[in-house]
Amino acid sequence: MQFIDLATQQKRIRGRIEAGFRKILDHGQYILGPEIKEIEEKLAAYVGMPHAISVASGTDALLMPLLVEKIGPGDAVFTSTFTFIATAEVIALTGATPVFVDIDPDTFNIDPDQLEMAIQRVHAAKKLTPRGIIPVDLFGQPADYPAIQAIADKYKLFVLEDAAQSFGASQNGRKAGALARVAGTSFFPAKPLGCYGDGGMIFTESQEMRDQLLSIRVHGQGIDKYTNVRVGINGRMDSLQAAVLLAKMEIFPEEIEARQEVAARYDRLLAGVAKTPRILPGNVSAWAQYSLLHSRRDEVIQRLRENDIPTAVYYPIPLHLQQAFAGLGYGRGDFPVAEKAAGEIFSLPMHPYLGEAEQRLIAETVCRS
Ligand SMILES: Cc1ncc(COP(=O)(O)O)c(C=O)c1O
Repeated sequence: MQFIDLATQQKRIRGRIEAGFRKILDHGQYILGPEIKEIEEKLAAYVGMPHAISVASGTDALLMPLLVEKIGPGDAVFTSTFTFIATAEVIALTGATPVFVDIDPDTFNIDPDQLEMAIQRVHAAKKLTPRGIIPVDLFGQPADYPAIQAIADKYKLFVLEDAAQSFGASQNGRKAGALARVAGTSFFPAKPLGCYGDGGMIFTESQEMRDQLLSIRVHGQGIDKYTNVRVGINGRMDSLQAAVLLAKMEIFPEEIEARQEVAARYDRLLAGVAKTPRILPGNVSAWAQYSLLHSRRDEVIQRLRENDIPTAVYYPIPLHLQQAFAGLGYGRGDFPVAEKAAGEIFSLPMHPYLGEAEQRLIAETVCRS
């Protein structure tokens, strides 16, 4: 059994991918070829944002907007402690300080009440300047943007949506990637929309931000590549990855629908056995992961492994306890909800091609543990 079945998906679109690759081999524009413009336009329209800027990874998609905002030493950027390292890593890379916040126990997303308290604490300490918030749409479910945006407006902070796991999700009819004024997503192969390497996309409302991002993407270029008006990076996605995404977009809306069915089936089969995911009213998840809490997690994982059922633990160590952030001075007990989740959470196989028989076997094995 596959944790994520990319092979079945590939069988459906292999011809289109090969045709896309052949086109690139013929025109030879491996960097910023016509496929790049095509995928940017397609995804901007899908998400409902005026501008989409393709980049080399989801990490760059988060780093580059921080560079535009001129985030740096002395600034505080608030984010969840229960996320992939990249969300906080980009804050630290600018020289700013990540300020961690605990999560909501039901959604695993940043807790807006805790967020406001953290902002107030930083204001009161007068050491750092609060500048922005990076909410994460963990496992594919959008964070609570209405509450977060109200806090951001109150304290004059920007919001950068980490939509790395939520491409295809929505909140109150708006697509993930359009839930804040700027968002970054990832096309790492295992993501709901994945390419065959690294890739990412930034979505923004602002023409001015778009122009700066295009410059940052190519080493801070001005009128051309050898006129450099700011410090940037090499943040381009390559044309071959865009061709994969163009092929996958043909079936993506259908796959998002299939993910809803798979998740609903898990919900039914596992009700009363483990704590199943809670999706808030108004949210549709992209179901990047289907994660359960179980007090005897390791036994359940072992039993699943014995039956050749793969699992994963996202995330075993919250970021405030990672060695990389030891210098920030956090300790065990600082964020109890995230720490409890880290001790009990695990994810089951999740992809649009998971069949009912496989899900029954998974659920029975969880039940027997
Ligand atoms: C929440 C989150 N943020 C950021 C990233 C970074 O994306 P990438 O691996 O494409 O750099 C990932 C995924 O890997 C992620 O899960």
